[in-house]
Amino acid sequence: MDSYVLPPVALAELDTLSSRAATVIARLRERVYAPGTRKTLDIQFNVRSAAEMVGRSEKLIRDAEADGRLPEPDKDPDTNRRLGYSLADVNRMREVFGTLPHRAQDDPPAVIAVQNFKGGVGKSTLVTHLAQFFALKGYRVCVIDCDSQASTTAVFGLNPDVDVDEDEDTLYPFFRHGGPRTLHYALRATYWPGIALIPANLGLYDAEYEFAARMVRDQKFVLDRLREGVESIAGQFDIVILDPPPALGMLSLSVLRAANALIVPAPPNNIDFASTAHFLKMMATTLAEISEIGGARQFAFVKIAATKMNDQKSAHVAIKRMMDAVFARDMLETVIKDSAEIDNATANLRTVYELTGPATRTETHRRCRAYLDAFGREVDLLVRKTWPSHHGKLRKEGIL
Ligand SMILES: Nc1ncnc2c1ncn2[C@@H]1O[C@H](COP(=O)(O)OP(=O)(O)OP(=O)(O)O)[C@@H](O)[C@H]1O
Ligand SMILES: [Mg+2]
Repeated sequence: MDSYVLPPVALAELDTLSSRAATVIARLRERVYAPGTRKTLDIQFNVRSAAEMVGRSEKLIRDAEADGRLPEPDKDPDTNRRLGYSLADVNRMREVFGTLPHRAQDDPPAVIAVQNFKGGVGKSTLVTHLAQFFALKGYRVCVIDCDSQASTTAVFGLNPDVDVDEDEDTLYPFFRHGGPRTLHYALRATYWPGIALIPANLGLYDAEYEFAARMVRDQKFVLDRLREGVESIAGQFDIVILDPPPALGMLSLSVLRAANALIVPAPPNNIDFASTAHFLKMMATTLAEISEIGGARQFAFVKIAATKMNDQKSAHVAIKRMMDAVFARDMLETVIKDSAEIDNATANLRTVYELTGPATRTETHRRCRAYLDAFGREVDLLVRKTWPSHHGKLRKEGIL
């Protein structure tokens, strides 16, 4: 029997493992980002798609180009054919036609946390795709990476170890004693027009310890610091999306306190679903306890999103059916299926929205886009319901 007992792992071996893992990550990143290159958004829209996005006819766009209200679209110097429009061009059209969907000054900015303490359930995937869906619509979006693993930061084209300074660029300095008064210092524009990012890197993990230590003497500071930070910048955005780490730590709690809406990704398999049930229970008790210290906070909506669903697996189908029955009113209708398209895009630190051609097959790409869009539309509607200035329009659309 004893011969089966493995020798203990020495710390030095763990170090070796960790540096090997770092090498793998560095190689992956080198493959995606050659040194000195910056991520760019290469998608272009033809005039028909642009017209649809802007909410005006092709003719009105052409007229505006002819009379100088809009610039003439770029032409291919060789063929003299019109090139497509970039997202920035489309947003300029929206501005000219007054169809930007921004909230009114008095509408509360939506602060959405995509939260589940379980790792790998698709939080960051939903955060990046939702942010880009909203930006395509013309909203002003801010993504805050609250996870020291920094996967969202990487998808937005930054190498967390190289491009992000842990003492200056992340949430970390804001969380420290005597830190900056607002979060403006950390905001940076991204390659996506309309999306600003507060990046993360490994250094953010220290905030977890420091918060835990400080919690003993200054609970209110710790619990509501992120909320104050978000409030300091939210005025310039329509939607702020928070990507938390997968653990019940101080940062995760801060995210729950900072958000005014919550989306809980939950893959319909046994283990992930058990964790989700656990998460919901812990969240309810913890938030209730915390509200005694820091005051109650309310969510405009809390929705569970079935993610990474595989229709071919009967267990997934069965659990999904139970989720629908138990959480009838709390589930988003759209199911994010387990898709090779998402997996392939993520492996290259990209999103499905920025691919100029399918990562897999055209049909897979089309289907995947369809449910990402449907997910975005559902959340968009929930958000707009919280904006009184949009109510008239929603009534006209027959939604309210
Ligand atoms: N719908 C999906 N189809 C296929 N793969 C997916 C899907 N959603 C997420 N993934 C993959 O699962 C992995 C984990 O996803 P993601 O990083 O979004 O999860 P997470 O909850 O943010 O993880 P963590 O807890 O580590 O932050 C990634 O490799 C991602 O590509
Ligand atoms: Mg994540």
